[in-house]
Amino acid sequence: MCGIVGYIGDKDINSVLMAGLWRLEYRGYDSSGVASVMDGELEVRKVKGRLMNLQEMLSEKPLSGNIGIGHTRWATHGEPSDQNAHPQVGCKNKIAVVHNGIIENYYTLKEELLKKKHFFKSNTDTEVIAHLIEENYKGNLKESVLKTISRLVGSYAIAVICTDEPDKIVIFRYGSPLIVGIGKNENLIASDIPALLDHTKDIIAMNDGELGIIKKDKVEFFNAEGEKIKKEKKKVKWGPESIEKEDFPHYMLKEIHEQPNIIRNNISLKIKGNEFNFGEDFKFSPKELAHLSHIIIQACGTSWHAGYIGKYLFEDFARIRTEIDISSEFRYRNPVMDGEPLVMAITQSGETADTLAGLREAKAKFIKILSLVNVKGSTIARESDSTIYLNAGPEIGVASTKAFTSQIFQLYLLSLYLSKLKWTLDSSEIDKKIKEIKELPKKMKKILKKENEIKEIANKFKNAKDFMLIGRGINYPTALEGALKLKEISYIHATGYPAGEMKHGPIAMISEGSPVVAIATKSSVYDKMLSNIEELKSRKAKVIVIGTENDEIIKNLGSDVFYIPECEENLSPILVSIPLQLFAYHIAVLNERDVDRPRNLAKSVTVE
Ligand code: F6R
Repeated sequence: MCGIVGYIGDKDINSVLMAGLWRLEYRGYDSSGVASVMDGELEVRKVKGRLMNLQEMLSEKPLSGNIGIGHTRWATHGEPSDQNAHPQVGCKNKIAVVHNGIIENYYTLKEELLKKKHFFKSNTDTEVIAHLIEENYKGNLKESVLKTISRLVGSYAIAVICTDEPDKIVIFRYGSPLIVGIGKNENLIASDIPALLDHTKDIIAMNDGELGIIKKDKVEFFNAEGEKIKKEKKKVKWGPESIEKEDFPHYMLKEIHEQPNIIRNNISLKIKGNEFNFGEDFKFSPKELAHLSHIIIQACGTSWHAGYIGKYLFEDFARIRTEIDISSEFRYRNPVMDGEPLVMAITQSGETADTLAGLREAKAKFIKILSLVNVKGSTIARESDSTIYLNAGPEIGVASTKAFTSQIFQLYLLSLYLSKLKWTLDSSEIDKKIKEIKELPKKMKKILKKENEIKEIANKFKNAKDFMLIGRGINYPTALEGALKLKEISYIHATGYPAGEMKHGPIAMISEGSPVVAIATKSSVYDKMLSNIEELKSRKAKVIVIGTENDEIIKNLGSDVFYIPECEENLSPILVSIPLQLFAYHIAVLNERDVDRPRNLAKSVTVE
C-alpha cells in the first residue's frame, strides 16, 4: 500500500527521500513524488510508474532545501497518473500533503471547497486535505491540521509541509501507520520502519488521534484536541542489513531460505526444557487460559491460512473449540462471542485494516485479545492484551512465506501449552513433540537443498493455465496457502480444496493432463489421499505429489513426486509449505513475473 517518508536535517534531501522511498518499494505502488520547501517556495516532483522515473526526474531537476516529504502511491481514488501522484498541493502552492489511507467523505468536502472557489488538479481524495488545510490556515499549521482532521471521515496518515513554516513537518495518524525516526540534529518520518533504518534505530510509533510536529532538533506530540502528550522512543532491534537481498535474486527466495534459522531462533527463545516462554508481551496467566471456553481466530490471506491450521491444532491437542474467520467477514457479521472466548488476531504486518477492525470489535465487547504479530510495536500488537511475536525478521517480499511458517510454529507451541494447562496431553507426549520440533530446522534445510528438484517440476508445468491443490486434515489449509502463493506471484489460476470434496463438484474440472498438486504425506488421512490420487489418475490428471521419504507407493502413483522428511502430522504443514512456496516461486520466475512486487498487490493492506 502507499508509503510515506519525510526528512528534516542537513543531508541532501533528494537522496534521503529517494532512499526512503526505495525502502518502501516492496509495499506496492504505481506512482511516486516528493516535495520540499526552499526560500518560501514549494518544489514538487511527481511521476507515474516506477520509482526509477522519479529518480531520473530528480537527477535532472533536484529538489533544494532541507525539509521534504515523499510518497509512493497505490491508486484508490483516481487512476495512476502524474497529477494523481502525491504530494498534493492546495491552490496557493503553500501547502503540500502526502497521505496514506482513504477519505470517505471527500466528495462532500470537495463540493464545499469548490463553492469556495478552490480549484482541483487531480481526482484524488488526498487533494481535498491539502485544500482544506489551506482553507483553515491562519498562520498556524498545527491548528489548521487539527481543524482539518476534525472534518475527515476515513483512515489516514498524513504529512504536511507549508512554505510559511519551513522548519517543520506536521503529521497526523488515524487508522494508518506512521513512525517517527529520531536522529541527531535530524528527524524523519515514515509509514514503515525500513525507510528509517539507514539513519536511526530510535523510533516513536504514532497512535490513532495523535499529531506530531517534527523539527530538525525537536519532536513534539499532541492529541486531537491539541493538548501536549508525552511519547516514549523505542529501539528497533534489526538493522538495514536485514532488509538487503544478499546474494538472492529476490527477497521471496531469500525469505524462503531463512525459514530454518527463524524456526531455530524461535525454538531457543520459546522452549526452555519442557516449559514454554512466549516473551514479555504474553501477559495472560495460566489460570485465565485454562478457563477459556473457546477460541475465535480472525485474520486475512496467508495469516488466515495459518489460523486455519491453528484450529486443527487447538482442537486436536488442547480440545478447545476453535472458530476461524476471515477478518473482513468477522468484523461485519455480528458474531456470537458469549462464554469466555479468546479472540486471536494473526498478522505479519500488524497493520491490516480488517484484522485491526476485527480486534476492535471484540475489544468493544470486553473479549480477551491475543495477537500473533511479526512487526514489533505495530498497531495490532499495541492494541492487544497479549502478543506473541513471530521473530521472523522483516518480510519484504509481498508474498508471505517465512511469516507463515513462523505463525504455524507459534500456534503449535501455544496449542501444546494449552494442552498442558488443560491436561489434554500428558507430559511424555508433550516432551515427544518438543523433540520433534527441535528436529524441524534440520529437516527444513534438507528440503531446501533439493530446490532443484522443485525447479525441474516447475519447468514441466510452467505453461499450465490452472492448478488444483488438494489436501486433507491439517494439510487442507496448507493446500489453500499453496494455491494462494501460485495465484499471487505467477497470476496462474489455482484453487485449493479439501480432497474429500472432489466428488462434490471440482472433479468435473479434471481432464487429461490437468495439473493437480496432492499433499499425501504419511498421516492419519494418508489412505484417503491415496484413493483421491487414484481417482485423479483414472481421469488422466497429472498429479504432483508431496509425499514422505521412502514412500514407494507414492512413487508409482504421482507423475512427479517431491519427498519431505518424516515428521509428526501436526507439524507437517511447516515442511509441506516449503516445496509449495518454491514451486510457486519458480513457476513465477519462469514466467518472468515480478516476484517481489506482484501486480495489484501491496505488502500491508491498511485500507479496506
Ligand atoms: C499473501 C499475503 C497476504 C497477507 C494478508 C494479511 O502472501 O501476504 O494474503 O497474508 O494481506 O496480511 P498480514 O499478515 O500482514 O495481516
